[in-house]
Amino acid sequence: MSDETAVKDKKVRAAVEPTIAKSETRKIEVRHEEPSTEKKTTKVKVDDACAFFGTKQALFSVNMEIAEKEVTAIIGPSGCGKSTLIRCFNRMHETVPTAKFTGDILLDQKSIFAPTMDPVVVRRRIGMVFQKPTPFPTLSIYENVIVGLTLNGVRDKKVLDEKVEWSLRKAALWDEVKDNLQKPGAALSGGQQQRLCIARALAVELEVLLMDEPCSALDPISTSKVEELIHELRQNYTIIIVTHNMQQAARVSQKTAFMLNGKLVEYDATEKVFTNPSNKLTEDYITGRFG
Ligand SMILES: Nc1ncnc2c1ncn2[C@@H]1O[C@H](COP(=O)(O)OP(=O)(O)OP(=O)(O)O)[C@@H](O)[C@H]1O
Ligand SMILES: [Mg+2]
Repeated sequence: MSDETAVKDKKVRAAVEPTIAKSETRKIEVRHEEPSTEKKTTKVKVDDACAFFGTKQALFSVNMEIAEKEVTAIIGPSGCGKSTLIRCFNRMHETVPTAKFTGDILLDQKSIFAPTMDPVVVRRRIGMVFQKPTPFPTLSIYENVIVGLTLNGVRDKKVLDEKVEWSLRKAALWDEVKDNLQKPGAALSGGQQQRLCIARALAVELEVLLMDEPCSALDPISTSKVEELIHELRQNYTIIIVTHNMQQAARVSQKTAFMLNGKLVEYDATEKVFTNPSNKLTEDYITGRFG
């Protein structure tokens, strides 16, 4: 390793490691989509998932089959277990010291808890974007995008350059930042930072993108950019988005899951959930009677 690479490597680690260590009646317009006739492959299967924090149970026997290349929205009142559920999907739940999980989660029919499944690889294949954009503040835009590759020892400048452009284009950010790739990630607007985090997730071998209220800190224009991006990304990725904004759930998703008190109450086509829910609790929630 050259001196220059070693210094760079040190800088990337210094920036990343502390973060790794910390561990009324609503009117909802549903985008009408013709139901697809093709049989979708299951990408993520949740099998009798129960999650605990110490003795407190946060998820109760959740079962779901999430189809490949679809957007699934998870809705429900605060504290119902939405974040806990998606944090189980990429083995982040187990990073909480008192946390426990029972049941199983299968990715392409293989348990993510199998001894051969490295949690780091699981988190690369099932990446997460958080409510508050989380770029590494001391790293440049360029370094932020390829941080996963750098930490994996990729050094080839040509490979990295290509990956940066590809990921930023896919995250619909390239045109806005291409002349400023060396600027710190933290210098971007909140909406741009969120797309930078999406680019960072795309730069590794991402298959499933988990988004936990990705737009709640964004203005309406940035929100619509992220929503457009979700539509684009679903051509290639499976997306699971937690949102408190039911209009957003209706706009971006094909399936919607409604959770209450740690249980999955209803899980169906988005149009059905918002126009003709099967469960009275779902209806009460989406019409604004509680939550
Ligand atoms: N680290 C933790 N330690 C203990 N309890 C926790 C922890 N994280 C979450 N919980 C509890 O688990 C339950 C589910 O929380 P979770 O964060 O999944 O809800 P949520 O649906 O994402 O809520 P919100 O919409 O407010 O983000 C809550 O009762 C919460 O208090
Ligand atoms: Mg949450």
